[in-house]
Amino acid sequence: MDKIIVTGNGPLNGEITISGAKNTCLKLMTAALLSDEPLTLTNVPRLSDIGTLSELLESLGCEVALLNGGNVMVLSAGTITNRKAEYEMVRKLRASFNVLGPLVAREGEATVSLPGGCAIGARKVDLHLMALEKLGATITLDEGYVHCSAPNGLTGAVIEFPFVTVGGTENAITAATLAKGTTVIKNAAREPDTVDLCKCLTAMGAKITGAGTSEITIEGVDRLHGATHEVIADRIELGTFMIAPAIAGGEVELIGGRRDLVDVFCKKLEATGVVITDTKRGLKVSHNGDRLQAIDVETEPFPGFPTDLQAQMMAALCTAEGTSKLHETIFENRFMHAPELIRMGANIDVQGGHATVTGVSKLKGAQVMATDLRASVSLILAGLAAEGETTVGRVYHLDRGYERIEEKLGGVGALIKRVPE
Ligand code: EPU
Repeated sequence: MDKIIVTGNGPLNGEITISGAKNTCLKLMTAALLSDEPLTLTNVPRLSDIGTLSELLESLGCEVALLNGGNVMVLSAGTITNRKAEYEMVRKLRASFNVLGPLVAREGEATVSLPGGCAIGARKVDLHLMALEKLGATITLDEGYVHCSAPNGLTGAVIEFPFVTVGGTENAITAATLAKGTTVIKNAAREPDTVDLCKCLTAMGAKITGAGTSEITIEGVDRLHGATHEVIADRIELGTFMIAPAIAGGEVELIGGRRDLVDVFCKKLEATGVVITDTKRGLKVSHNGDRLQAIDVETEPFPGFPTDLQAQMMAALCTAEGTSKLHETIFENRFMHAPELIRMGANIDVQGGHATVTGVSKLKGAQVMATDLRASVSLILAGLAAEGETTVGRVYHLDRGYERIEEKLGGVGALIKRVPE
C-alpha cells in the first residue's frame, strides 16, 4: 500500500483544476440502470470508487465503456441480466446501495446487500427502505440482503423524511421516475449532487420539479431514454484545495470552482482571514501566511457547512489564533482525524460530536494514518505547513475520492510524493 509524504514548504501559488464530483457521478451512474439506452457522462473523475461501482454495474448487465482517458463514460444497460448486488461489491462502497431504486423501478424486483457500517458511523439505510415501501415495494431482509419487490411496478406516493438523507432522497427520486403517478418527497436533500442527478434524469425524460428545494415532485413516466450529461464540479475537492493556501499561504486559483457550491464554507473561510475572489475561470484564494483566526463551525445538510469539509477545516484551525469549536451533526464518529492531528502537535479536545481546537503556532510532521477519505486529506493539508515531514499511510482512502492529488498539490508548489510502503 502506498504512503504519501508531505514536507512543509511555504506558500503555494498557481492553479488547480477541479474534477467532476465523485458523489454526484456515482449516483448518475446508477441512473443508467433506468434506461435501455446509453447514458453518456462527461467530466467523470478518475477515482477508485468510480471503478468499484463500474464493476458492480457490469455484474448487473450494464456495459461500461471509458473514453478520452476515462473522462467520458458510456453506460449501456440494454438488458438487466442480474438483479442481485452482491455483498462483496456493496460493502466496498456504500453508494452501491443506490442501485436498489433504479433496479426495482425498472425490473420490479431487486436484491441488494446491506452495506454495513463504516468508519464514520452506523450509516443505516432504513430511510431508503421506508421510501421504497411508500412507493409500494415489499421489502424483506434475509441473510444480510434486502429483497425489494414490486411485480406490478411502483406507485407514486408522498414520502416525508424525518431528517435529510442524501442517498435516501436519491434512491427515492430514481425509483419514482418510473412509478405510476406522482411522488412528492418532503424534507428532501438540497445538495448540488441531488440537483445534478435530477438534471440528468430530466435529460433522460423524467419529469421532476423542485430539485434544490426541500420538496421535490416527480411525475412517473413509462420509460426513460439515453442522454449525455456533464458531471458537476466536485465541491468537496474544491473546498479541500481552497484550504491548502489558507494553511500554507500563497494564492491559488481553483479552475471550475463555483461559490454557490460552497457558499457557507466560503463565508467561514473568509472569517478566518482568507481572501476569496470570484474569477472568470473559478475562485481564487489568497492568504498572506499570517495565523488564521479561530472560528466556530457546525456541519449541516446543504446549504449548511458540509460534513465532508469538517476534517479539512479542523486541520486549518489547528494553527489558528484562539479557540475554535466544531460541532459534527451528521455522522456520529467523524473526528478520527483529531488523534492524528494531535500526534502532529495540535491541541484538540473531543467530547462526543463536539471538538474544541486551541490553536498552536506550528504543527510538526509525524507518521499518521486515517480511516476515511476526508480524514486522510486533512492530514495532508496539515502537513503542508507543518515543520518537517508528514507521512500519511493508507493512501487508498485518498484514491477513492481525490484524483491525482500529489500532481494537483505538487503543481502549486507543495512538496508531496507517493512512495510504496
Ligand atoms: N441515515 C439514516 N438512515 C438512512 C440514511 C441515512 O439514519 O436510511 C443517517 C446517516 O447514518 C447519517 C445521516 O442520516 O447520520 C445522513 O446520511 P446521508 O444519507 O445524507 O448520507 P449518505 O447519502 O450515506 C452522502 C455522501 C457522504 C456525505 C453525506 C452527507 C455519497 C456517496 N456520500 O452519504 O460523502 O458525507 O452524504 O452529506 O453521496 C464522502 O464523500 O466522504 C462522504 C462520506
